[in-house]
Amino acid sequence: MSILQLSINGQKVGPIEIPDEVMMIEYLHEFRNLTGTKFGCGQGACGACTVIVENEDGTKETKKTCINSAAVFNNKKVTTIEGHATKDKDNNIVKLNPVQEVFIEQFAFQCGWCTSGFVNKATLLMENLEKNPIKIDQVEKVIEENLKDHICRCTGYVKYYQGMKKLILGTKGLTV
Ligand code: FES
Ligand code: FES
Repeated sequence: MSILQLSINGQKVGPIEIPDEVMMIEYLHEFRNLTGTKFGCGQGACGACTVIVENEDGTKETKKTCINSAAVFNNKKVTTIEGHATKDKDNNIVKLNPVQEVFIEQFAFQCGWCTSGFVNKATLLMENLEKNPIKIDQVEKVIEENLKDHICRCTGYVKYYQGMKKLILGTKGLTV
């Protein structure tokens, strides 16, 4: 057993005892009722189960929840797909984040199984570009580098990539 204490979408959780073999995706689904994170390959290959993690030193990264136990996320701040939208006091969604909006606008997904992983990876990319803008001629390359490990069996990626290009070029301060 491990002791788990973390923050999920801004809410403190724990400390609680958790069996070492419980994977993070299982913890999110079965213990927290957060089912937006999807189980695809279960082997760390498709990216469907990706969440955003903020480490204790403030650095951020994405992590796959199908191959990392819940204990790996101890003392981290985790953002899942449920954590991006702005909500009112009754927990109703008021506004999606810009990545979610552009993916909908572009019809970037069909079944949606891959979408939460794409949104998390792309949202972290937007945050990184705010801190470190890139040259306009680098935009396509950077999008590909960031999203290439995410597999979509439905739409062939083009709409996701086009959506991100539109969003990055249309957002002040991300390019120089
Ligand atoms: S389900 Fe985790 S990477 Fe595919
Ligand atoms: S929209 Fe179905 S797997 Fe990507």
